[in-house]
Amino acid sequence: MNAKKESKKPPKDNLVHFSIDGRRVQAQPDWTILETARAHRLHIPTLCFHPAIHPWGSCRLCVVETRLNDKVEVTASCLTKPVAGLEVLTHSSRVMNVRRWVLEMLLAECPASREIKELAAQYGVTSTRFAILDPEEECLKCGRCVAVCHEVVGVQALTFGSRGVAKKLETPYRVPNNACIGCGCCVSVCPTGALQARLDTVRGDLSRRTGHGFAH
Ligand code: FES
Repeated sequence: MNAKKESKKPPKDNLVHFSIDGRRVQAQPDWTILETARAHRLHIPTLCFHPAIHPWGSCRLCVVETRLNDKVEVTASCLTKPVAGLEVLTHSSRVMNVRRWVLEMLLAECPASREIKELAAQYGVTSTRFAILDPEEECLKCGRCVAVCHEVVGVQALTFGSRGVAKKLETPYRVPNNACIGCGCCVSVCPTGALQARLDTVRGDLSRRTGHGFAH
């Protein structure tokens, strides 16, 4: 008797299939849109994202437009996981408007930052309508330094104090402490030069404490 062979369906992968700027891409189930874009060498600008730490979603520069059926959204790509069939646009007019608005706010937040000025200029943003509170400020409060100190180095030498426009990088409870080991991880992940001066101060403190300088 000829046993009829069962027709086999192609094996299902567990990847998420969707598109970015019209290109078909595949994501591992736990990847975000940003991770997928990077894996496929597609550029989405970021400031607060760093692969060594959990995404915070604080800067919103990584926004993309997503379309699924009739639903259109603008969302942070570093926090959003794709679903099958999603269409992602990384440079639509909606996206560019949001990025320009974000950059205008950052020009007011950290007006002394050369990096932010250069980035803003790439988007045609050279001035800001928002109030500048501190013309010397370089920190954009992205949170990378706080997160790397906690998640990677394993200490909590830094935190954010206050909220809103008063938000500031500080030591916990604004009390000087010995938690900082002067490793420089915070400086290395800072997207602006904001932390270099602070680290130099820490290095000086440690030199005085231990009697040894730091090797550069
Ligand atoms: S990089 Fe996604 S919100 Fe900052």
